[in-house]
Amino acid sequence: MSGQKLFEQLSAKGRAFLGTTYPLIGGAMASISTHQLVSAMANAGIFGFLAAGFLNPEGLREEIKKTKELTNRPFGVNLIVLHPELEGLMNVCIEEKVSHVILASGVPSPEMITKLKNGGVKVLSFAPALTIAKRLVKNGIDALVIEGSESGGHIGPVSTVVLMQEILPYITEVPVFVAGGIGTGMMIAASLLLGAAGCQMGTVFVGSTECPVHENYKKAFYRASSRHAVQTTQMSPTFPVIPVRSLENKAHEKFSLHQKEVIERYENGEMPLEEARIQIEQFWAGSLGKAVRDGDVENGSVMAGQIVGLVKKEETIQQTVERLVDETKISLENMQRMLK
Ligand SMILES: Cc1cc2nc3c(=O)[nH]c(=O)nc-3n(C[C@H](O)[C@H](O)[C@H](O)COP(=O)(O)O)c2cc1C
Repeated sequence: MSGQKLFEQLSAKGRAFLGTTYPLIGGAMASISTHQLVSAMANAGIFGFLAAGFLNPEGLREEIKKTKELTNRPFGVNLIVLHPELEGLMNVCIEEKVSHVILASGVPSPEMITKLKNGGVKVLSFAPALTIAKRLVKNGIDALVIEGSESGGHIGPVSTVVLMQEILPYITEVPVFVAGGIGTGMMIAASLLLGAAGCQMGTVFVGSTECPVHENYKKAFYRASSRHAVQTTQMSPTFPVIPVRSLENKAHEKFSLHQKEVIERYENGEMPLEEARIQIEQFWAGSLGKAVRDGDVENGSVMAGQIVGLVKKEETIQQTVERLVDETKISLENMQRMLK
């Protein structure tokens, strides 16, 4: 069977679910996945999610409308389950007839899933463990994303390779997409052969022409190796830090010093526990914007996955997608040749 034929067969479920040419998702990236990037993804034949984490309902409606002006292909919205205006954001998605919503940064309640489904929306969510995947399927989720710790942004503790083995063989009721550390067709082919419906990627699209980040952010990506995409360090178990993967820079050093200082002040009785925790939590507030919009890649948070090491030059989204698809077909063909 040709690589093309095998690719078509293995990706049928994912393509049918997404309504796209290819079984690939451009994962939402806070402050980055706006109408420019998402419409470019849709026009290149993959599925993009708008990031709504920093938007209010009217801001989201505006982004959806702008995206629709630039593409007539399907795209979705990423909603943060702890967003204070979640109800309003869900209503906008239903009113604007968004086809797919992914509920992120927490496990969605059955009510959230039901509300969106009753509004005609297909609902996805992240499954960080098999028990959660099973619970989400029972609660009516339409598809799952399993995202390993290699990925950029907020991360869980388990790698993509381990999550794939823990979850893929046991969830057959709904499509499961794999994310985290994917940047070549070789890995897309392997994911499809292991039973994934497709792959979600973020980091590989950040250096693209259409990506609306400051030039310095893109250049930092082209320069970086995989080992430079590190997770935020936690200095004490009393002061938990939500792990985020971003490029090593001055901000990482300052964060360690900041934690040390705050912890010392707390231990000397100069500050109550709650206040110390808030001071540590607030360190990164606004820091993604600093890097994405102002181009301050030393003091801002340059969120990036480990696959950043393979992002070496600017390409259009179309070029990246075509390269990934070609590589996937070649890998599938090579794998068949090895079996002969
Ligand atoms: C800069 C950046 C910001 C991100 N922001 C979000 C976000 O707001 N919501 C979300 O669900 N995932 C977010 N992610 C994760 C992506 O949607 C995607 O799942 C991830 O990038 C896949 O792993 P990869 O980075 O190895 O490709 C972000 C990733 C990056 C690189």
